[in-house]
Order: sequence, then C-alpha cells, then structure tokens
Amino acid sequence: MPIPLVQSNSGPSAQPANPFAAQRAKVEKNLGNVKKAIAVHCGKGGVGKSTFAVNLAVALSKGGKKVGLLDADVDCPSCHALMGMRGRALLDDEQRIVPLSAHNVKFLSAGNMVDDANSANIMRGPIMFKLISDMLSNAAWGGLDYLVIDLPPGTGDNPLTIMQLVPLHGIIIVTQPQEICLTDAKKSANMAKRMGVKVLGVVENMSGSVFSAGGGERVAGLFEVPFLGSIPLQSNIRKFSDKGIPAVLEDGKLLERFRSIIKSALA
Ligand SMILES: Nc1ncnc2c1ncn2[C@@H]1O[C@H](COP(=O)(O)OP(=O)(O)OP(=O)(O)O)[C@@H](O)[C@H]1O
Ligand SMILES: [Mg+2]
Repeated sequence: MPIPLVQSNSGPSAQPANPFAAQRAKVEKNLGNVKKAIAVHCGKGGVGKSTFAVNLAVALSKGGKKVGLLDADVDCPSCHALMGMRGRALLDDEQRIVPLSAHNVKFLSAGNMVDDANSANIMRGPIMFKLISDMLSNAAWGGLDYLVIDLPPGTGDNPLTIMQLVPLHGIIIVTQPQEICLTDAKKSANMAKRMGVKVLGVVENMSGSVFSAGGGERVAGLFEVPFLGSIPLQSNIRKFSDKGIPAVLEDGKLLERFRSIIKSALA
C-alpha cells in the first residue's frame, strides 16, 4: 500500500482558509501605502533568488520607483550582505522597526538584527512567523511603488507566511535551467496557484553552457505564464555580489536585462 501523501497540491481543491486573517489585516494596514508587493521564489535553494531580488529592487529604483526590499529568509538571510549593509536595524521612538537604506532602496533583513553574522538563527516556525509578521506589520515602510520580498526555498513555513499575510501583486519564479531545479520551480508555481497568488512569470538564472538553457521557458509554457527572460551565469555577478554591490550598478548589459524583465513582468 502506498504511504499516504502529505497534504499535496494535486487536484482542484479550494484555497485553504487563512487562519491568520487578523494578522493579515494588521499587515494590510501597515502596507497601505505600498502599491505592489512582489515576492521572488523557487522551491529550489541556491538558484539565485536573493541575487535576483536585490538586483530587481535596485533596477526598479534606478528606473525612478520608490522601492523596498524585505528579506523573508530569516534564519539564513543574505539580502543585507548583497546590499553591502551589515549594520543593525533600529527601533524608532514608537518602537517601530526602521528599515535601512542602500542604493536608494529601503530594506530589512534579519541579517541586520544580529551582532555576529555567523551565529545561527535557530528558530522554530512560530518564532519565524512572529519575526516575519513584525517586519511586515511593525516596520516603517512608508509609501512605496514596489516592495520586493525575497523568499527562502521550499514550500514550507516562510513562503506560506508571506503568501498568507501579504496582499501580493504576484510572485516571480527564478529557476536555473537544469531538471533538478525545474521540478522545484514547478512546485513553486503550484504553491502559488493553490494559495491564489498570481505568477507574474519565470526567469531563468545561470543560463548558458554549464547548466544548459531553455528550462525556464518550458516551465513558463507549462503553467501558461510569461517567460520573463534569462540571466547568464557570469562571474561578475558572483564577484559583485560577494562585495555587496548589486551587479546592475556596474554592468550596463545586465541592467538592460533587468529592465526588460521588469517591463514584461510589471507593465
Ligand atoms: N547569474 C549568476 N551568475 C553567477 N553567479 C550567480 C548568478 N546568480 C547568482 N549567483 C551567485 O550564486 C550564489 C547563490 O545565489 P543566491 O544566494 O542569490 O541564491 P538563493 O537562491 O537566494 O539561495 P538560497 O536558496 O540559499 O536563498 C551567490 O554566490 C550568487 O552571487
Ligand atoms: Mg536566498
């Protein structure tokens, strides 16, 4: 006899009821002046989600938009390092979290809430939920055209929290082209579908001879969502990222790719 499945997304089942309606109302109120919240996701780890999210935020800002960036990967955050800002976030007089600012982007990461970057943030789900909800409902985001949210991999607690608490405009799925990543990109698309979140499109990252090409476009076709474009595997992206410099600030061709992705996803 087959092992009974964990709750899966197969079948035409209705969206699950949101048990966090009260918390969602608080988040909606606090993000009342945010025009569009966009999450970046893939079920697979290490495909370049955070790098994409950071460069998307900076490219949007360079296009004249008011932009925020929230790192929802609270146990292993990386947006603070990719933005080149390792300082501590502070509370204002009203005990609200004040987002930091770099490259004309307001941002918040759990990486800016610890003294030692190498210490392990060991948290069970409820603590992660509390931290993410605080970053959404008790941070002074103010008025923004876009809030980009970098999600951790997987289809568990943290992506679920964001999809349940935030009135998302949609998600962008970032995948590498090889099969092992595509399976998890499809899980991401199925999760969004199940949660009633729009998939704005699929981006193929690290495209080229090493990991092959074309897989991202196939996933987009399968789910009938836009293919937004590809970003090649290129060493300067890794080098700038390691220095805490969003690569679109230094690489004009890459900025053009992001502009084209933005046009396809958000026009
Ligand atoms: N197109 C690219 N070319 C070269 N290196 C890249 C590219 N995209 C991302 N990287 C590098 O790949 C590594 C992983 O990227 P990143 O941390 O953004 O992945 P992630 O999907 O957010 O990982 P996680 O699942 O752990 O959150 C980083 O060192 C980053 O600089
Ligand atoms: Mg990441």
